[in-house]
Amino acid sequence: MGLTWKNLGVLFATLAASGVWLGTSWGDGAPVPTFSPVSHKATAMECAACHMAYPAGLLPARSWTRMMRELDNHFGEDASFSPEETLAITRYLVENAADSPRANERSRRIASGIAPADTPQRFSDTPYFRYLHDEVPAAVWKRAKIASRANCIACHTRAESGSFAEREIKIPKE
Ligand code: HEC
Ligand code: HEC
Repeated sequence: MGLTWKNLGVLFATLAASGVWLGTSWGDGAPVPTFSPVSHKATAMECAACHMAYPAGLLPARSWTRMMRELDNHFGEDASFSPEETLAITRYLVENAADSPRANERSRRIASGIAPADTPQRFSDTPYFRYLHDEVPAAVWKRAKIASRANCIACHTRAESGSFAEREIKIPKE
């Protein structure tokens, strides 16, 4: 087969298709270590009162909208705010959600792993979380200093700045 423009075109189409495939697979270890940390003042303040301010890119928009509607019963706590604040925080979370146009590749993977009919309220309940953490033994999650999968900062020492790189992980021994 001689090299012609036509089969060059086929070659490029194949490369492009495999690029797309790599981009959506989970196993390629692509260097996208980070989520944008919360950059909205009210969200950073109010949503970090009881735990770290989770990056908006951890959940799709529909998850945030539902969570913000049900803040008076937020994982058993009353986390409600004024209507103005609730609206502003909701807007920020939705605009930066895992399925928003601003989402980075890592967030898009979270979103594409969630069935359209699901509205998870926990990133730690999503298929992508399980995929990333499938090598953490069950007993480790029960250690006193970890206690909850939602306690990202117990292991990800720079989680509050949106950074979850492998070299920054330190798993508490007890
Ligand atoms: C009054 C305390 C309180 C406030 C304020 C609060 N939360 Fe929470 N939140 C909790 C508790 C308790 C949990 C469950 C933690 C656990 O399971 O370890 C939780 C869990 C979460 C989770 C699930 C994390 C995961 O992946 O498992 C998300 C997301 C979340 N909160 C977002 C928010 C947002 C957004 C705000 C601000 C609008 C907020 N929280 C304000 C108490 C609070
Ligand atoms: C028990 C400690 C622990 C907790 C708690 C934990 N993680 Fe992890 N996380 C790990 C380990 C271990 C890995 C796997 C590192 C590897 O093998 O690449 C990981 C991997 C990740 C990665 C991929 C890092 C990379 O660049 O490869 C992300 C993103 C991540 N975790 C986010 C979170 C978030 C968000 C939370 C909280 C909702 C959380 N993790 C809670 C231990 C933990």
